Amino acid sequence: MLLPLLLLAVASHAGSAGVLETPSSAEVCGRCHRSILEAWKSSSHAQAMESRLFQDVLDLAEADFGAAGRKVCLECHSPVGARTGDFSLVRKVSWEGVTCDFCHSIQSVSMSGPNPKATVAFTLTKTGPLKDSESTGHATAFSNVHTTSLVCAPCHEYRNALGFPVLTTYSEFKNSVYAKEGKECQSCHMSRVAGDVVDPKIRRSSVAKINLHQMPGSHSLEQLNSAFKAQWNAVREGNQLKVTVEVANQTAGHYLPTGSPLRQLVLEVRADSYGGQHFSEERVYARKVADQHGTVLMREHFAFLRGAKVVSDTRLAPGERRMETFHFPIPAGSQTQLKATFWYYYSPLARTESQKRIVFLTLNRLVQ
Ligand code: HEC
Ligand code: HEC
Ligand code: HEC
Ligand code: HEC
Ligand code: HEC
Repeated sequence: MLLPLLLLAVASHAGSAGVLETPSSAEVCGRCHRSILEAWKSSSHAQAMESRLFQDVLDLAEADFGAAGRKVCLECHSPVGARTGDFSLVRKVSWEGVTCDFCHSIQSVSMSGPNPKATVAFTLTKTGPLKDSESTGHATAFSNVHTTSLVCAPCHEYRNALGFPVLTTYSEFKNSVYAKEGKECQSCHMSRVAGDVVDPKIRRSSVAKINLHQMPGSHSLEQLNSAFKAQWNAVREGNQLKVTVEVANQTAGHYLPTGSPLRQLVLEVRADSYGGQHFSEERVYARKVADQHGTVLMREHFAFLRGAKVVSDTRLAPGERRMETFHFPIPAGSQTQLKATFWYYYSPLARTESQKRIVFLTLNRLVQ
């Protein structure tokens, strides 16, 4: 009996007469789906528009390619803005990045065109994975697409106007052993955790588990450390110190790194001998992309819009192990401090060091 009152309160906060707006802000959904809102807020999806880095590059995209270039970016970074034609970003919900009401208004995803395409209808019926869901807040509809990787494909697989595949995370996954084993993107990015689907004050739900809406990826130390494994060894070879490092993409369901061509995984090995000799060498795991003239592209807006060919691809395939060998000319008897550092590099245009890269693993060893 308390329910209608609560619903009214929600609706009036939403600023509409008795119903949710279509599309609604995440804050409104979060009045009932509180735990999910909290998780989503700390996701990269929630930051897809407001991130300083994205805003900087969006400005560059507009300066270099005009309004049409900017529109391309908003298709994925402000999917609600793009779908409602709010390209000047007047409405708050357009600033929410990849927000609730976009994903839960997806009706189907088609893979038949050059790019995966979502059919979206902003209505009072929310689509989702629950078969027996009953909501007084809005109608619900079971959607098979939400339980599979297809729901992620429209933004994580992208060919630009030149036909060049800029983002290939979905197809990398599809070709991996994980897809053959029946895993989905959600298996690794939306683990089931304890939580309330809806605030118990609103309704006591029969399910006490929710899918983690934080969708952790390369900004999560935990994900990086689970994905990547390294073992190393150092031996004497005549007048040289030979260091071998075996690196492995242990659990990522796609290449490591995946996604934007500006992402890099870097391994640096340093050897500092007490005799005063210092050496360091790097290995970079990345997919370098160039424009039609062969100029390597170092900024996201060029990579997205002008990418035309792959110059080199040294990324680690799903499950791949690779041996890296380093030779340092340090003679026997000279005690040496060895250090291997691994970091994930996000973007050269990031302004702060922490937005630019994250060190996720260091190994130290003293050798004679
Ligand atoms: C098809 C969807 C799509 C389009 C179109 C798109 N992006 Fe993205 N963008 C992504 C995804 C997905 C990521 C996340 C990381 C990844 O996959 O590497 C991303 C990441 C980024 C990042 C890095 C953000 C970070 O947190 O490190 C920047 C900057 C960026 N995009 C800028 C742009 C610009 C500028 C445009 C337009 C020229 C654009 N994007 C077009 C999907 C898209
Ligand atoms: C007034 C409270 C309320 C508000 C506001 C609300 N919901 Fe719900 N929602 C519910 C309830 C109750 C359920 C049913 C839960 C259950 O069955 O366990 C539900 C279920 C859902 C489901 C599951 C549907 C399925 O079949 O899998 C989705 C998805 C969903 N809501 C999304 C949203 C989104 C997106 C918004 C904001 C636009 C929103 N909700 C706003 C109360 C609300
Ligand atoms: C078997 C587990 C697994 C599967 C399946 C999987 N991923 Fe990942 N994913 C990871 C791990 C671990 C990381 C962290 C390491 C990294 O950044 O590559 C990651 C990272 C990412 C990133 C971060 C890339 C960046 O540039 O910041 C994105 C985006 C991503 N995954 C999307 C997807 C999508 C979309 C799917 C389905 C098509 C998928 N993943 C399937 C494990 C998985
Ligand atoms: C990037 C797309 C995406 C965004 C953004 C998103 N969801 Fe979801 N949501 C999903 C998917 C996919 C599932 C189902 C996962 C599965 O079953 O494998 C889901 C499941 C749900 C469910 C059913 C219960 C559960 O956890 O399985 C509810 C309710 C829900 N989401 C509400 C929300 C709300 C509220 C927000 C915003 C705060 C939100 N979602 C943002 C994709 C999204
Ligand atoms: C509407 C477009 C859209 C959809 C649908 C979408 N994503 Fe994303 N995703 C993005 C964008 C844009 C970013 C980059 C945000 C940024 O950093 O600026 C991103 C970033 C990510 C990241 C990187 C997280 C990190 O640590 O940086 C992961 C992982 C991810 N998405 C997984 C998924 C999964 C899994 C699904 C499907 C359940 C999905 N996404 C559906 C647009 C989307």
